[in-house]
Amino acid sequence: MPVVLRTDRLILRKPILDDLGAFAQQFADPEVTRYIGDGSPRTPERVERGLRNGLLCWDRLGFGPFTVLREGRVIGDCMLYPIARSGVDPTDFAARGPEIEIGYRLVREAWGQGLATEAARAVLGWATSDASGPGLTNLVAVTHPDNIASRRVLEKIGLASMGRSEAYYGTTTWLYVLRPEHAARPPIPE
Ligand SMILES: CC(C)(COP(=O)(O)OP(=O)(O)OC[C@H]1O[C@@H](n2cnc3c(N)ncnc32)[C@H](O)[C@@H]1OP(=O)(O)O)[C@@H](O)C(=O)NCCC(=O)NCCS
Repeated sequence: MPVVLRTDRLILRKPILDDLGAFAQQFADPEVTRYIGDGSPRTPERVERGLRNGLLCWDRLGFGPFTVLREGRVIGDCMLYPIARSGVDPTDFAARGPEIEIGYRLVREAWGQGLATEAARAVLGWATSDASGPGLTNLVAVTHPDNIASRRVLEKIGLASMGRSEAYYGTTTWLYVLRPEHAARPPIPE
């Protein structure tokens, strides 16, 4: 049974290759990529690689990124994906983890309406559920410390703010982890 999450305004489902056009447009916007990776917009080739990696993640782990749709239109994604600890090659899927990262990226027109919070809350609920989802206990989120909108989303969905961290992606991020009421605290690397 394919996983489909429904909220008041959104449908979240496993990505399909047809989503590529929408994602390529989204990641060509420098405002969207400003706080992601090196901050530069992504080429369609890079976006396609990301999409295919997301599908591989679903095949291997039974979860992965969700495409977020509003009124039938792709407005972004909300991902679950093994995070890269500092010092590992982030392009090597097998080297990533064991913590699973939750993250989201929406097209600019969708910002400021609570939609990222709505999507992330649904994915968090599914991801930590033993009954309907994979029952993850080692979920983390990281943002650029200046990405206030994203930090606010993580606070609104109830993750615990751990402050600045060098643990992931070989850079300084702001780290969030699950609270005990979501699941057991994840191991935080030194
Ligand atoms: C981060 C992002 C997903 C937020 O999406 P969104 O749908 O606008 O988020 P929401 O509306 O659910 O919540 C945003 C919150 O941040 C607040 N916010 C936004 N910009 C802010 C700013 N500059 N300063 C303070 N608060 C800000 C909003 O007021 C809202 O909080 P509130 O509900 O308490 O008022 C969206 O901006 C985005 O896609 N950015 C580009 C990709 C990205 O950076 N992703 C995160 C990578 S870690």
